[in-house]
Amino acid sequence: MSTLDDDIQEILIDAQSIQERVNQLGQRLARLYEGQVPILVGVLKGATPFLVDLMRAMATPLQVEFMAVSSYGRSTKSSGVVRILMDLSVSIEGRDVLIVEDIVDTGLTLEYLRTYLLNQGPRSLRIVTLLDKVVPKKADVPLDLVGFRIPNEFVVGYGLDYGERYRNLPYVGILKSYVIAEEAIAQHNVAASSMMEQSLEEGTKELYDR
Ligand code: IMP
Ligand code: MG
Repeated sequence: MSTLDDDIQEILIDAQSIQERVNQLGQRLARLYEGQVPILVGVLKGATPFLVDLMRAMATPLQVEFMAVSSYGRSTKSSGVVRILMDLSVSIEGRDVLIVEDIVDTGLTLEYLRTYLLNQGPRSLRIVTLLDKVVPKKADVPLDLVGFRIPNEFVVGYGLDYGERYRNLPYVGILKSYVIAEEAIAQHNVAASSMMEQSLEEGTKELYDR
């Protein structure tokens, strides 16, 4: 039986390391928000596993909200265009808000979200992200807590997807390049072609290597 694991080149952060780090972050946040009832705003869909584990590591009163913003779609590159697909269900005016994000790449998504939420007059606004990609940022967003800094690779698992798949992997891993190449061929679109050429070169090598 072929499984999702077969498409993974390398496990970057294993499940146990994720759990340990998320527990640490949760305990730190619980102390930070002592005496307050923060609103955790999970960014759908990628931040879901992180939010779920993080809130269970915080043994203090809190509320949970979700927002959905447009993502890359099937591409592995950020478009920089952010659109709100689902909004908060409560007012955050005068409240302590914590954005819970899966990964920061260019920073454009978070910058947009942060400005959007700040305009609604919260008492405080903090950001926690599980992953921060070490890349030159297009937007300089203050990250209050970071789980792991990772190299500039396209990663999947623990919420992160490629074409909506791989979110259910319990670890964070790097996709084999031929997976991305095959996907690009299937799409047959111009936007994917330069990525495809590059991935195909590596992907073909990979196929021979197997
Ligand atoms: P940014 O706007 O470039 O910072 O991109 C942030 C969003 O892009 C994240 O919330 C993810 O949904 C998605 N993203 C960025 N890098 C990756 C990745 O390596 N794998 C999967 N999704 C990613
Ligand atoms: Mg996200």
